[in-house]
Amino acid sequence: MSREIADHLRYYAELGVTGVSRSAQWRTRPGEASASDSIPSGRRPDAGDTDAAKSLLAIRTEIGPDCRRCKLHGLGRRQVVFGVGHPAARLMFVGEAPGEGEDRQGEPFVGRAGQLLTKIIEAIGLHREQVYIANVIKCRPPGNRNPEPDEVASCEPFLFRQIETIGPRVIVPLGKFAAQCLLKTAEPITRLRGRVYEYRGASLIPTFHPAYLLRNPSAKRDVWEDMKKVRAILQGDA
Ligand code: URA
Repeated sequence: MSREIADHLRYYAELGVTGVSRSAQWRTRPGEASASDSIPSGRRPDAGDTDAAKSLLAIRTEIGPDCRRCKLHGLGRRQVVFGVGHPAARLMFVGEAPGEGEDRQGEPFVGRAGQLLTKIIEAIGLHREQVYIANVIKCRPPGNRNPEPDEVASCEPFLFRQIETIGPRVIVPLGKFAAQCLLKTAEPITRLRGRVYEYRGASLIPTFHPAYLLRNPSAKRDVWEDMKKVRAILQGDA
């Protein structure tokens, strides 16, 4: 038990958290009335959740397992990486594009950056299965190069349909690429983060990409500030 607590505190410290609060407000998960009536999605499942799951499946089917809408299909990608998580999640993360591990496993954010993302999600009291995680483009660009404008143009409509179907309360674009794509701006991430935007019925809170955090651990502090805003909105405090 003491080892578990030590591990927990270590990764909070890793995320740049410098203190804890004894306030009861922070002891429930966003969307939950109390720990005793907690539910896996952070809200009560309803018929809409099944509809959302069906609509997501319809989008995935429309893309198809062998999508050839852009040139990436011929540039070594193994599979289309659609997205993962709760079909009616209140919190959605959007990354850039699958990397090598994601391309192999068919799931976004499964590598080192993904493990850090999981810790970030857990640091605000949620589980990875309660949120939805997708990328702007669904196939791995060769050598992890940046997605090109024609690839984004063919793929982003599917992301927009995922967002519309899931209907999240909060969207967190991870890194410059996703933030610029969603907000249709060329402003740098350092200017975009730190603010809350209204976007397609959700609050959009850009933050740094977890891969950037692996290279620049001091930026974890800023991400923690962003995630506190996310948590406050999900708890109805903002
Ligand atoms: N980086 C991303 O932007 N997306 C992934 O799925 C993995 C790494």
